[in-house]
Amino acid sequence: MDSARLSLNGQDYELPVVVGSEGETGVDITRLRGESGAITLDSGYGNTGACQSGICFINGEEGILRYRGYPIEQLAEEASFAEVCYLLIYGELPNSDQLASFNDALTNHSMIHEDMKKFFEGYPASAHPMAVLSSMIASLATYYPEPEGEENDDLNIIRILAKAPTMAAWSYKKSIGQPLVYPLNRLSYCANFLNMMFSVPTEDYVVPKVLENALNVLLILHADHEQNCSTSTVRMVASSQANIFASLSSGVCALWGPLHGGANQKVLEMLAMIRDDGADYQKYVAMAKDKDNDFRMMGFGHRVYKNFDPRATILRKACDEVLGELGINDPLLEIAKQLEDVALNDEYFVQRKLYPNVDFYSGVLYRAMGIPTNMFTVMFALGRLPGWIAHLKELKDDPASRINRPRQVYTGPTVRDYVPVADR
Ligand code: CMC
Repeated sequence: MDSARLSLNGQDYELPVVVGSEGETGVDITRLRGESGAITLDSGYGNTGACQSGICFINGEEGILRYRGYPIEQLAEEASFAEVCYLLIYGELPNSDQLASFNDALTNHSMIHEDMKKFFEGYPASAHPMAVLSSMIASLATYYPEPEGEENDDLNIIRILAKAPTMAAWSYKKSIGQPLVYPLNRLSYCANFLNMMFSVPTEDYVVPKVLENALNVLLILHADHEQNCSTSTVRMVASSQANIFASLSSGVCALWGPLHGGANQKVLEMLAMIRDDGADYQKYVAMAKDKDNDFRMMGFGHRVYKNFDPRATILRKACDEVLGELGINDPLLEIAKQLEDVALNDEYFVQRKLYPNVDFYSGVLYRAMGIPTNMFTVMFALGRLPGWIAHLKELKDDPASRINRPRQVYTGPTVRDYVPVADR
């Protein structure tokens, strides 16, 4: 099939068909408006392909997720987060020399300009760390104004990946009134972040291996998810040729919402609410099904996955392992499992194909690791950065890319004359 036919007002239009490497089919409507005057309407873009992309493949019906062709299960089991960053951004897994110099660069750029420390002093202690992170990322543009060129782009990519964990950990330290901890070059990406979060000047702190490994898996699982809300936002902003820091900061803002990355915080708050209300999870399942009630089962459902979310499957197992190893018996995990059991067998959830998503278990795991609830979405952002960057790079390298500018069907008033205020 290389074309599709659309019949509109008695006229036939031939539309080219694009087929992806996994057989996905897209009807190209680029010329439709010019030829027919009509646009396509797809609220929430559920059926709209905004680009062709070679970064991430998802098959929601079969629960498949691959980065550059590599199954997420293999990457989560065997790769380091730095390797996955390199893979997503540059298209191939690094060889050992490439990985060593990439890791060196990430280490060497992890400090942030001393003047930026003053920004942290200015924020109130109660500031949400997502607000701080998005502002700090946008502020990097004031320190690293962009001359064009591939070399500088690569340097900025390293800068943002290296500095984001420092900025995130500092926003936490500031919120609890502790001194900021500087990055340590001898530690891995994940261990360094955990050290900046949890070490204090009065004690020796050694990052537990189990936490370092768990964080590595969590970041890998969040690293990319094709055209989700935040990635599409980053692409949208970057399509105007805004700089890398402004574009990535917009991704953090989009991720913050409870229907997207903010769901992990909401899941934990929901589980705590159920626990404090006597652990009557059936009551909350009933509330989620009640159309007169606004309550939604946070951590359930996904726009794309209509079978299972492979990231949730990996995390459910990781939760059991990490909590077991740390000797944590978390009543919230028990409530989470009971909710999952009830929902998986309930007609409402089954019919609508609502399964636990990545956020359902990540919150429980972050909690076991000692990460505070309001930092959960920041953790998601740290993981998603390489994905956003990969999409920015793909967009920039694509000669066919142009400013994103959707159309609309106007439904407001038709033309009318202005009436002076005295006559209204
Ligand atoms: N609890 C109860 N009912 C739900 C839920 C839920 N969590 N999610 C969807 N539904 C119902 C919804 O009411 C609708 O029912 P009906 O057909 O009777 O009107 C049906 O399922 C389809 O829902 P939708 O809102 O049209 O689906 P969507 O594709 O627009 O939304 C979603 C996807 C993830 C925003 C939504 O499932 C949701 O709000 N889930 C809870 C928030 C959440 O966990 N978000 C994290 C997503 S995964 C991380 C990420 O990638 O960002």
